[in-house]
Formats: sequence, structure tokens, C-alpha cells
Amino acid sequence: MTGTIEIPVTKVLNSRLKETPFENIPFGKYFTDHMLEADYENGEWKNVEIKPYQPLLLSPATAALHYGQAIFEGIKAYKNPAGESFIFRPYDNYQRFNKSAERLQMPAVPEDIFMEGMRQLIALDSSWIPNKPDHALYIRPFMFSSDEVIGVKPSDNYKFLILLSPTGPYYAAPMKIYVEEEYVRAAPGGVGFAKAAGNYAAAMLATAEARKQGYDQVLWMDANEHKYVQEIGTMNVFFVIGDTAITPDLSEGTILNGVTRSTAITVLKEMGLKVEERPLSIEEITDAYKKGTLKEAFGTGTAATISMIRELRYKDFVMNFDTDTWQYCPKLKDIVTDIREGRAADTHGWMFKV
Ligand code: COI
Repeated sequence: MTGTIEIPVTKVLNSRLKETPFENIPFGKYFTDHMLEADYENGEWKNVEIKPYQPLLLSPATAALHYGQAIFEGIKAYKNPAGESFIFRPYDNYQRFNKSAERLQMPAVPEDIFMEGMRQLIALDSSWIPNKPDHALYIRPFMFSSDEVIGVKPSDNYKFLILLSPTGPYYAAPMKIYVEEEYVRAAPGGVGFAKAAGNYAAAMLATAEARKQGYDQVLWMDANEHKYVQEIGTMNVFFVIGDTAITPDLSEGTILNGVTRSTAITVLKEMGLKVEERPLSIEEITDAYKKGTLKEAFGTGTAATISMIRELRYKDFVMNFDTDTWQYCPKLKDIVTDIREGRAADTHGWMFKV
């Protein structure tokens, strides 16, 4: 459902585009000229508007600042060789956003505000979509509780916003990953499947400790036994063992249902690999490495795209990979990039025209 909502637009007088550096743009540092903002009050969404990117004026008692009732999404937009703008699978993110909202006792955002609001915002700032390999316009829809009350309860008021940020690669080089055994990201029954802001806050200590040891990110393990791999800090994870790509299944609700994960599953199958979504123990991974059957390991995420793992450390056991010799992950990345950047046919209906 698009084109059904009238959104008032206030444009900037002077664009910041020319002063924004577009060489190796760091993730999430620069924002386009405009943003979308909407309020939920008295049981309905209102005040939907597109306006110049600007600070919010918030009470120090704003509920989200105290209890973290806040969710977000990450989506990317690209330009095709003809200069037309497309968003990659935004409807999947829209659906996941409202699943996160439900889990955190927040109101659903209507489709026309999310989808049509995003489309109109990108149409307005389309000259900010980078036109370089591994670059894209990162789209950040988010919602937070905005009651000025510090009692612990779901808010009556919420704000929904969309920001746009031109960005380069999240990880420029293959990653070093540390298997985390002390801290836990998510337990069954918790909020692991939701894109809840607090999930990322809760991950920061483990990530900081891994960084001190020279690792880029942690690989989380299941909360009950610390036996099964879950996901990497900002992405889902795949291991190619023999001729099968294996990624942890989503059945326990502890793993984010990644849109790039789902894309990778489809494309890997089309490439002729077997793909299994199932519990995968760290022992199975280390055993396969010792036997020489662990061929590739990589992460998938909107920000991270498809990122190779060059080192994986479990306790004192270090697994090194010569990523230059890999055949599946680089091909997967090329296929997905070609679809996103409009050089290959979009046979799955993944590209949403702005
Ligand atoms: C994304 O890939 O869009 C994410 O949300 C990860 C992010 C926290 C960097």
C-alpha cells in the first residue's frame, strides 16, 4: 500500500551534501538533509512530517531513556546504473519492526507511514545515495517511548523517526571473531529475536573485551549450555562444512531473523549448495576445522552486508582461514551486490522502486 498518505514536507534552505565527504564514509556518521518524524498519541499516529534533520527536544523524564523501550531497523537503498533509486527488501524489515514492537509492548507503525514515508524521504534525499562499490544509503527507522513518566510501564506516547545515512563498508577487511563464553546475548523467552536497542547495549562489554584482544566481534553462544552458536554482534552467521552451508535456526527466538540471512539462504541454494538451518555446536565447527571440512565462515547483515571471517578463536583454539581461496562467500556477495546495484535481474522481487 503506497501513495495513500499526504506527508507535509519542509525542505532545508541549504543542503549539506557538498560538504559531506563521500570517500570511505564511516558507518552512521553522516546524515542526509531530511528526516521523517511521527507521534503516537491518544491511540493514534499523527503529525507525520518530513523536515530538516535536526535535534529532538526531549524531557529528561522521557521513558525510553530510563527503561529502553526502543526498537529500530536497518535497511539499505542503492542506485542502479540508470541512476534510479531502489530499496532492498524494505517490506521484510517493516514486518520485523512491528514484531519487535509487539514484543516490547509498543504500537504497530502503519504500513503507509513506514513504507510510503521512507519512500518519500529517500526520493527527496536521493542525491545522497552513494554510487560506489560497497557503499549505500543506510536507512534507520526507529521508535521509542516518549511519556514523561518514570514509572515502569508501557508508554502512552511514542515517537517514530526515519534517518538516512550514506555509508561505506562496515568491515572493510575480513573479520577476526572471538567465541564468547562468559557473557550471553539472549535466552529463550527473551528479546533476542527483536531489534531492541537494549540488545546492543547489553553486547557492548563483551565486544569491548574481545576488541582489547584484537578481535572485531564476538560469536554468541546459547544461554543454557554455551554449546550452540547463535549470531555475531551485528550479523547472522554461516559456516560452510563440506558442501553444506549451515546457519543456526530461529526456533528458540534468540536469534535475529536477518533479511540478509534470508537472502543468503535463497542465493546459496540457487548456487547449488545445500543449506541447513539447525542447531550448530561449536564442537561440530572445531571438529570440521581439524578434519579440513570447514571451508568458509561468514556473517550476514544489512550494515555488515556479507563479511568473511579470517580468524575464529574458541578458548585457546585458533581457526585461521585463507579467504583468498574461498569459492562460495565471494560468489554469494557478488550475486547479491549485483542484484542490489541493479546489474543483475531482480528475479525475487527484492528491489522496491523509490
Ligand atoms: C544492521 O545491520 O542494520 C544493524 O542493525 C546492525 C547495526 C546495529 C549496525
